[in-house]
Amino acid sequence: MKLKTILLLFIVMMTLNINAQSEKSGQKALVAYFSWSGNTKEIASQISDLTKGDMFEIKTVKPYSSNYNTCVDEAKAEKEAGKRPAISGKIDNLADYDIIFIGYPNWWGTMPMAVLTFIESYDFSGKTLVPFCTHGGGGAQQCFKDFTKYTSKYESREGFLSNGSSVDRAKPHVEKWLKEKVKINL
Ligand SMILES: Cc1cc2nc3c(=O)[nH]c(=O)nc-3n(C[C@H](O)[C@H](O)[C@H](O)COP(=O)(O)O)c2cc1C
Repeated sequence: MKLKTILLLFIVMMTLNINAQSEKSGQKALVAYFSWSGNTKEIASQISDLTKGDMFEIKTVKPYSSNYNTCVDEAKAEKEAGKRPAISGKIDNLADYDIIFIGYPNWWGTMPMAVLTFIESYDFSGKTLVPFCTHGGGGAQQCFKDFTKYTSKYESREGFLSNGSSVDRAKPHVEKWLKEKVKINL
């Protein structure tokens, strides 16, 4: 009887352990982001820190001008032409990730075209895509609507939005969003 109880207890503990492990591995996160002046990168770091996810920077092969007005003009021309600027680097271990956060600044009311290049470069089947965005006062505008448009075949969650000027104070809000909207175990 005593042996049976010990055996049963052992089986229950093993099952709980297996479940805990699969729950953890079911949350392996990648935080991909495009950031021109660092605001979106800051939110990406906070998400990575909270989820223990890896970071991946979306970079164009040809960098945008470091001059704000020139960059604004370059971004406008790309948007109007529906360009897909070439990006450098590649995620080699995509299969390792279950949830992929994709962050970007609001550029002309929508996502920078380089983020569309990124989205269209991979097959994210079976993964959950979650957007986050920083803006300069215009809010989300079409940033999340367009994200949904280009990722409609994938599972997704509600995005996180921050004004670029308050990213340094965003971490508690990021944490709340991760728990309540993304429903990720931290
Ligand atoms: C090319 C360009 C276009 C932008 N367009 C908008 C816009 O339409 N609406 C807005 O609120 N902010 C706009 N901004 C401001 C950025 O969205 C904001 O500063 C953001 O936090 C920058 O993120 P980053 O530091 O990660 O590049 C624009 C900035 C740039 C450089």
